[in-house]
Amino acid sequence: MWIYKVKDYQEMSRRAAALLSAQIIAKPDSILGLATGSTPVGTYEYLVSWYQAGVLDFSEVRVVNLDEYRGISRDDEQSYYYFMKKHLFDHVNIRPENTHIPDGCGSYAEAVTQAYETLIRLLGGADLQLLGIGRNGHIGFNEPGDSFTETCHCVALAKSTIEANKRFFTREEDVPREAYTMGIGTIMRAKKIVLLASGEDKAEALRGALEGPITSWLPASVLRLHHDVTVVADEAALSLVNG
Ligand code: PGA
Repeated sequence: MWIYKVKDYQEMSRRAAALLSAQIIAKPDSILGLATGSTPVGTYEYLVSWYQAGVLDFSEVRVVNLDEYRGISRDDEQSYYYFMKKHLFDHVNIRPENTHIPDGCGSYAEAVTQAYETLIRLLGGADLQLLGIGRNGHIGFNEPGDSFTETCHCVALAKSTIEANKRFFTREEDVPREAYTMGIGTIMRAKKIVLLASGEDKAEALRGALEGPITSWLPASVLRLHHDVTVVADEAALSLVNG
């Protein structure tokens, strides 16, 4: 595991965008596993600006996103599909048919998750998976629990996640209670993983992930078992980590 300690959010974003760019340049038809939330927004801004400057070409890139709320349609502003279009897809030359996110409105949860896992396997898995970390240590929407999940599945969101995500909604009651997510196994099968963290409110989770026991009660801790993980975190997020 490589840990890059950077000054702040801006520097984290630039470094993460550089890692993603290196992947795209080295393998133009890369499968990128991407993430939503506040953390990667700056990363996507850099990617868009480097695309506009002619440095990057997304024409062969394929994307599999980590997760999606259940019961929210793609054109709903709260959907992660909408988020990805707004922050990345609409501003680069990626082909819409090469962008994949679980279907939040699929009728049967099992069908949605099996189809998504199958798709990721058919593509050969992510070459690089970008991750944020939840305040409770979740990755994707893999919430703390008594086991690690193997494949894409439907989850009940933890109270702390609903609390953390209510800032994106008008009312807390509007935050969906369920979501589809890649499983821990799906994430761990990515060839490379880049974990981002910024801010003091991630410090406890990041300390647990990097220094605590490897446990499904802090899902990000499992990343220590992966052979190619790069952590890009700012000083505030790393403030509780020794060394
Ligand atoms: P955030 O969410 O980037 O909005 O902090 C990260 C996560 O919950 O994985």
